[in-house]
Amino acid sequence: MRGATNNPFTPGSGISPVVWAGRVDQLRDWTDVVRPRLLAGLPERGRTIVGEPGLGKSTLVRRIASMVEAEGGWATRQVRLPSGVDPLKAVAAAVLKLADAAGLSASRDQRIAAVLDRVRHVSVRGVALTIDRAEGPEPYTALTELLIEVGREAVRQRTVVLLHIDEVQNITDEHALSQLLISLGDAITYSIEVPLQGNAVLERSLPIAVYLTGLPEFAEKASSRSGATFARRFATTTLKPISDDDIRLALAEFIDPGWQVPDGAGGFSRIRMTPRAATRIVELCLGEPFLFQLAGERAWYANSGTVITEEDVLLGWEAAKPEAAAHVERILDRLPEKEREFVHVMAAVEPKDRTATHIARAMGYRSAANIGAFAQRLDTVRGIISRRPSYAFTHRALEAHLTSDWPDI
Ligand SMILES: Nc1ncnc2c1ncn2[C@@H]1O[C@H](COP(=O)(O)OP(=O)(O)O)[C@@H](O)[C@H]1O
Ligand SMILES: [Mg+2]
Repeated sequence: MRGATNNPFTPGSGISPVVWAGRVDQLRDWTDVVRPRLLAGLPERGRTIVGEPGLGKSTLVRRIASMVEAEGGWATRQVRLPSGVDPLKAVAAAVLKLADAAGLSASRDQRIAAVLDRVRHVSVRGVALTIDRAEGPEPYTALTELLIEVGREAVRQRTVVLLHIDEVQNITDEHALSQLLISLGDAITYSIEVPLQGNAVLERSLPIAVYLTGLPEFAEKASSRSGATFARRFATTTLKPISDDDIRLALAEFIDPGWQVPDGAGGFSRIRMTPRAATRIVELCLGEPFLFQLAGERAWYANSGTVITEEDVLLGWEAAKPEAAAHVERILDRLPEKEREFVHVMAAVEPKDRTATHIARAMGYRSAANIGAFAQRLDTVRGIISRRPSYAFTHRALEAHLTSDWPDI
């Protein structure tokens, strides 16, 4: 029987979804590139993952963090930076947790004890400390030093460290942002010498992975402030919606053999989904991970039987519609005025006529050059449209909302 306690779909942030879809390339980047390189002592840039709300940025890195923990590595639980708050405090607290995991808190090494002390201060007082900067090194340096110690310990224990800082767009203070990027970057690029047999030494990087996640504006801001340094130290990915095939694949287990749930008598039973129901979910959620979870959750609740039918999906969607529309409207509302206007005008133009010139004219401009800047931001910074080979929407839910009755069916 389907009910609240066995519903596997989890719209809303904070919980790692059990029904996982796609993001294969991003997970592979960790398993096949970042992790092996870090373990081998090779330098590897940090990762910045940006994207519009609800695309699964936080979730993706949380999943990578749990992979790290599952194999005995040390990962911070997603450090969320609240808006307007000193980012240093939160990051310092997270690095202290890593130091704990690495067993450094119990260290009798005086130098390590001193660094720990400084970072503890920072975690309590934050940047306020910089006021008496004259008395000692910058609080950011303390952070770097402690991270380096954590990294050294990880080398000894042959493991990796992952630091995940979320909602990085909330760092509004320019100084704080560039200092934080420098301090994390310094730890990532630091190299140590490890003694080998026969008097040889190996120079290697520390196995520290830094993942920054947040809204697209962050990457833009970071590269405009500390441009070259940021790009040299962090590789940026803009998340796009998940493909229909990947969503279908995520639902395959529901179709056959069925999703396993406890039967209340110590055993298990299975909840199945008809292929038509799965197709409906694919169509309705348009590759948006949040909408996928929402559609799934509502379909699950629409009835209590052991088979999720197309009717259940449609009935559930009725209840989900306001939330689905609100999700897309939030994304639209966030856009700067000109970009929002561009998106509206582009949606109003027939798909075959979506050329730069045509859209520019429809916006009241004389030539394509006038819209170049907005179009480029919507493409490269936000991943909402693509300009090549011709103008098209990448964000399919946004397109559906602007060009059809969706979320109405
Ligand atoms: N790969 C995925 N497969 C299935 N559901 C996902 C996936 N990524 C994210 N979700 C779901 O989408 C919702 C939004 O994810 P979240 O990570 O909070 O987005 P963001 O941080 O980009 O705003 C959550 O309900 C989450 O469970
Ligand atoms: Mg998030």
